Amino acid sequence: MLHLRSIAGVAQGAVKASQPFRTYASAAPTAAFAGNKGSNGKYTVTLIPGDGIGPEISESVKNIYAAANVPIQWEEVSVEPVLKGGKTVIPDAAIQSVKKNTVALKGPLATPIGKGHVSLNLTLRRTFNLFANVRPCASIQGFKTPYDDVNTVLIRENTEGEYSGIEHEVIDGVVQSIKLITWDASERVARYAFHYAQSSGRKRVTAVHKANIMKMSDGMFLSACRQVSKDFPDITYDEDLLDRVCLQVVQNPQPYSNRVMVMPNLYGDILSDMCAGLIGGLGLTPSGNIGRDASIFEAVHGSAPDIAGKGLANPTALLLSSLMMLRHMNLYEHAAKIEKAALTTIAEGRNITGDLGGKASTKEYTDAIIQKVLKA
Ligand code: NAI
Repeated sequence: MLHLRSIAGVAQGAVKASQPFRTYASAAPTAAFAGNKGSNGKYTVTLIPGDGIGPEISESVKNIYAAANVPIQWEEVSVEPVLKGGKTVIPDAAIQSVKKNTVALKGPLATPIGKGHVSLNLTLRRTFNLFANVRPCASIQGFKTPYDDVNTVLIRENTEGEYSGIEHEVIDGVVQSIKLITWDASERVARYAFHYAQSSGRKRVTAVHKANIMKMSDGMFLSACRQVSKDFPDITYDEDLLDRVCLQVVQNPQPYSNRVMVMPNLYGDILSDMCAGLIGGLGLTPSGNIGRDASIFEAVHGSAPDIAGKGLANPTALLLSSLMMLRHMNLYEHAAKIEKAALTTIAEGRNITGDLGGKASTKEYTDAIIQKVLKA
């Protein structure tokens, strides 16, 4: 069996900052961040603006970073697919940029529904073997939602499961879609989840599953989690059924707030959107796709074609994703300053976007954050 290298440095960001706002923990990778630092003292970070609202929210992040003097320079690349040897692939320049810089911030990429369309999101995750998708979801103090104290962290296996892309037509009217679960990928994401729990001060890891029905596939996922749990005697390990978790988390999310939930791909995709609903919606939830050699940070939401180009998008999810990235890069102070400015702006409620119940445009909200950053 494959065993991971030690996850040195995973703890750094998670417990450090102690500002009045809940901090989005570092989603550190399996290797310490080395980065691509230029002679000007700035790190180069790949930026994939993406589709739909992607360019608008990326612009907002860039403007806030410029105001906060974050020591990074953006290397903007397009991932518009190109045809190579009869296959659609991501342009080589984009791949080389992420390889070189080892960190990227990515806007949403649209995937047309229907036959023959490759998901660029899945392609990116596979290309860089981004095996863990970390999705924290925390209530914003001062911003009223049905629950005040949500603080969940969900870690989704990111490379296989129901999203393996193995589908075929058996006979006319019968199709088959294969859910692929491997020991290595399950063990790898489980180990990451335990390290994450340890480094962020969470005392419990819960594996979320449907092994009562999918006995072999989810059964093996659970076996891998159980085996890894033996290496972490200080962390309580338990298991819960996906449907039970869904019911309970919407009835009372508090018990889920001090643990890490780890699960196969599809369950994580759905449960994380549900958690987003508890704190004010998709406009607020960040994520990090963690690999051994590169990590790509992105909002949980998609390209929101219904509001694209109208200046209405909420850039917070991408901004918070970028702050996970900064902590991963050990740039804690910059992350804390921007986070405080953004969360205070939301808590004050004067300049918030429509999805949060306000009337501000993307630019007005961004400018309000910038004013706070400049005064900090
Ligand atoms: P979506 O997340 O784009 O939109 C769902 C709803 O939430 C829409 O009403 C939208 O206006 C709203 N919304 C999302 N983000 C928002 C923001 N930042 N500010 C304000 N409102 C926001 O999901 P949908 O419509 O299912 O997907 C659209 C496209 O995005 C599809 O092509 C899908 O494949 C793609 N997608 C890409 C993802 C990625 O790049 N990681 C993730 C999810 C979907």
